[in-house]
Amino acid sequence: MKGIVLAGGRGSRLYPVTRGVSKHLLPVYDKPLIYHPISTLMLAGIRDMLIITTGEYLDAYKAVLGDGAQWGVAFQYAVQDEPRGLAEAFIIGEAFIGGGASALALGDNIFYGAGLTGQLQDAAALTTGACVFAHQVPDPHRFGIVELSPDGAPVSIEEKPAEPRSNQAITGLYFYDADVVEIAKAIAPSTRGEVEITCVNKVYLDRGDLSVTKLPRGTTWLDAGTFDSLLEASHFVQALEKRQGLKIACVEEIAWRKGFIDDGALEALARAYSNDYRTYLLALLDKSAQ
Ligand code: G1P
Repeated sequence: MKGIVLAGGRGSRLYPVTRGVSKHLLPVYDKPLIYHPISTLMLAGIRDMLIITTGEYLDAYKAVLGDGAQWGVAFQYAVQDEPRGLAEAFIIGEAFIGGGASALALGDNIFYGAGLTGQLQDAAALTTGACVFAHQVPDPHRFGIVELSPDGAPVSIEEKPAEPRSNQAITGLYFYDADVVEIAKAIAPSTRGEVEITCVNKVYLDRGDLSVTKLPRGTTWLDAGTFDSLLEASHFVQALEKRQGLKIACVEEIAWRKGFIDDGALEALARAYSNDYRTYLLALLDKSAQ
């Protein structure tokens, strides 16, 4: 399965901070925000990724992420100059997807929890239909909302409903079969002028082909699109990393644990750092930071 990370948009909710820097390159404690969706896709076992950004920041992303070979993955880049909707990612990414299944991870979504990797791998094994993840929220009018039957089957989906039928938000991580490109192309823009991912999900729902996995209460989902949520995400990551002595969304570690890179490559990545990353990554190899 191929993966798309959507890191476009103007980030206007974070002005003036994002007037000269892309939102997804802002720090969440000790790493750029975009490391989170990249880690999520890597944990799902996805190694081919398309990073979609605005033309203005393309070079900055290339400087931060390179071609991915350092982490045993492959990054390609594409541009979305106007925020024409999440589903446009599949139209922009058509050639990259190459007629197979694909996953979309929104650049500002952070997932953390025990058992998540297994759920991600299951979703990435999909060959027909669609799989999305739902998480309970206190403010359902802000999200795509799914109503579930008592046995967990999706009944309805609405984008930012004024009168939500449930408090289960569809998170920014979507897995689709090869049909998604044609489905996205056929969708008319919404009143906010965007090709809505919710419309894509509705097509799969109407076909009886949408599976919704509820993230259990031990799993945390954060989006980092406002001043408060960005700071909260930093505090969350800092608290967990300090308390556990384990890094979250540490792409080098994930690449190594997944077998995408070998010990020598991890050591070279570690030695290129002069901070806490050096100690942490070398400790994984039972080496001291000297
Ligand atoms: C988008 C989707 C929404 C989804 C949310 C998750 O909202 O349209 O369905 O619940 O991402 O982060 P947006 O960020 O465009 O407001």
